Amino acid sequence: MAKLVINGGIPLEGSVKISGAKNAALAVIAASLLAEGETVLENIPQINDVVILTEILQSLGASVFWKDRETLSITVPDDVHCVANYREVKRLRASNLLLGPLVARRRKARISLPGGCQIGSRPMDLHLKGLAKLGCTIGVEHGFIKACCSRLEGNRIYLDFPSVGATENIMMAAAVAEGKTIIENAAKEPEIVDLASFLNSMGGKIRGAGTDRIKITGVKTLRAAKYAIIPDRIEAGTFLAAVTITGGNVRVENVIPPHLKPIIAKLQEAGAWIKEEDSSLHIVGPERIKSVDIKTLPFPGFPTDMQSQMMALLALAYGTGVIVENVFENRLLVANELNRMGAQIKVEGHTAIVQGVPFLNGVSVKAPDLRSGVALILAGLAARGTTEIYNLHVIDRGYLNVEEKLSRLGADIKRID
Ligand code: EPZ
Repeated sequence: MAKLVINGGIPLEGSVKISGAKNAALAVIAASLLAEGETVLENIPQINDVVILTEILQSLGASVFWKDRETLSITVPDDVHCVANYREVKRLRASNLLLGPLVARRRKARISLPGGCQIGSRPMDLHLKGLAKLGCTIGVEHGFIKACCSRLEGNRIYLDFPSVGATENIMMAAAVAEGKTIIENAAKEPEIVDLASFLNSMGGKIRGAGTDRIKITGVKTLRAAKYAIIPDRIEAGTFLAAVTITGGNVRVENVIPPHLKPIIAKLQEAGAWIKEEDSSLHIVGPERIKSVDIKTLPFPGFPTDMQSQMMALLALAYGTGVIVENVFENRLLVANELNRMGAQIKVEGHTAIVQGVPFLNGVSVKAPDLRSGVALILAGLAARGTTEIYNLHVIDRGYLNVEEKLSRLGADIKRID
């Protein structure tokens, strides 16, 4: 079983280039199902989740190949299959994003319910209510979602919660519905804006993405386009946190600073010095991290995908920090592994009380999920002695060669297969 072996205590130095955004790539790849012709997507990270989604598109009959390390070509036939079964969907939860584009393209879709994961039950009620408002007949039986419609008709949709996935599925279906759709209380994440920009580059008419009110005028067809996705704000935030926890000095390149506002503000509050440049950030970590409080919220609040990384930071901070996880129901799992390293973290429901300690000890730990896994890497980078991290496949889902990028910054980290 592969593991990462980290000898901690080395401040990170140098520069690192951030890859394309996982959560933009997954949405844009799903949206390419709507396109007639060859879609060319640039700045796509070859991370496991992306590779799995390309394999699912191939199983549906699309022609998908890498033109180079970061450029994907996707051509979808008119008779693309519209059934994604459990074998595929259980490999990738985000395959729920196939629902909107498939029902829009083929007027029918049958997707296995993705089921929950470590961090929560991950329901799809908001996705299904939205698609029903556009004229889909939705059925859920034997673990499958069945959606079909004779035609898609624009409508006004209010989301009870600004769900990223529901906003994306509804936007993709509404893009080719007849008439106008308004999504209210829509998610405002940068990945939503990127998906809307991609759909508009295909001839879509979407306005207001990035606000809580998105207006979509349906068009008959969407032409395949060439499109470069945004850099990954969570990967960038993870490296900023790595420099903070090791007291390093690094330039983080290929970022869009406005996407990182809540993360930059919180790390500055914790004592990091951060200078914004055009498309990079220069960060110097503090001598000692100051404790801060974290409340995760939909964008532009503090992102839930950075919560575990901040818990690792607070474990070594001066003082006590309080983390409240407001987005997912079970995303404080990394506390158990951090406590095994000597952290003092008490979890009560959605809240973690993190009392900073002077040092963490390197021990063997198991990554519970993607962001917890990378939080354990951060802890290992700062811990005394050697940390071994198992269950690497969950980390490889969302980070491309994380150990190589960290090694190039001076970290003593190796992957042992
Ligand atoms: C996206 O997941 C991201 N994944 C997640 O990133 C991210 O944490 C999340 O948005 C929040 O920002 C991708 O983009 C592939 P949601 P998504 O729908 O769309 C509830 C990572 O680490 N909800 O905004 O599934 C849900 O239970 C991953 O990169 C409903 O109740 O998130 C959750 O509590 C993890 N009903 C909350 O909303 C629904 O129909 C947020 O979910 C849909 C969601």
